Amino acid sequence: MRKMTSDEIRDTWLEFFKEHGHYVEPSASLIPVNDPTLLWINAGVAALKKYFDGTLTPKHRRITNAQKCIRTNDIDNVGHTARHHTFFEMMGNFSIGDYFRDQVIPWAYELLTSDKYYGLDPHKLYVTYYPDDHETHDLWVKCGIPEENMVPSVNNFWEIGEGPCGPDTEINYDRGEKWDPEHLGLKLLQDDMENDRYIELWNIVFSQFNSMPGVPRKDYKQLPQKNIDTGAGLERLACIMQDAETNFETDLFMPYIEYIQKDAKYPYEGKYKLAYRVIADHIRSITFALADGAVFSNDGRGYVLKRLLRRASRYAQT
Ligand code: ALA
Repeated sequence: MRKMTSDEIRDTWLEFFKEHGHYVEPSASLIPVNDPTLLWINAGVAALKKYFDGTLTPKHRRITNAQKCIRTNDIDNVGHTARHHTFFEMMGNFSIGDYFRDQVIPWAYELLTSDKYYGLDPHKLYVTYYPDDHETHDLWVKCGIPEENMVPSVNNFWEIGEGPCGPDTEINYDRGEKWDPEHLGLKLLQDDMENDRYIELWNIVFSQFNSMPGVPRKDYKQLPQKNIDTGAGLERLACIMQDAETNFETDLFMPYIEYIQKDAKYPYEGKYKLAYRVIADHIRSITFALADGAVFSNDGRGYVLKRLLRRASRYAQT
């Protein structure tokens, strides 16, 4: 595995997909434009929805980006786990009616495992897939993922709010037994349990349906074309490639933590780590949100910001 800074990881991603004919789309604002269904941009695809549902025809059918995202549904986990954040960067590659499974899987394998790129050990990659999706299973095995690292799961269907969705395949990195004190092994993945052993690095969605509120999944309409939507967490890749204990010990968070430490009574150690992590995480959300034009208020987006600021302040007291 290569050791890379987060900037190198991001550049390597964008460059790889550029070499493979993708247009590099700059990150959109965190504040959704003309999308009342979302409070924040919460995935790389969120700002590209209009292309996926056929509302707009894109100039480029292949797009790559590193998108700023805010997700606050897991806010209470932030600081307690190794990798929950309210603000994160999602790197993605997208096909709008262009390539599909047979193209995206070999690319993903190459980018993750080739020494020219990230150089991860394929034996440490565990891949989940939708049980009926034999084609996805076979493509991964053909690339070089060991058969025993392939894990079928009915949870492999991606949707978040209204819009493009579909079955998916997730690539997880095994950090080893050390992070699995109860020795549960693959059960952790099969049962989709919170854990620090298998870190989900990348989600590849075969985006071919449109999710509608109140409509059962089996009745979702097909999108006008078959698409690929992928998302990989920059913070998680940095954690693996920098051999960090958690995402917080990477170059994305340590500068904040060191800065806070200068004025704090207690160092970044033991039980105090939690407070540092919460503050560092929430500062990122608040700063990027304000920079994109959000303001504090008593409802909606502004209220989310208030909650983040309050939570960070509360932890600052401790
Ligand atoms: N849109 C997919 C996700 O957020 C890739 O995981």
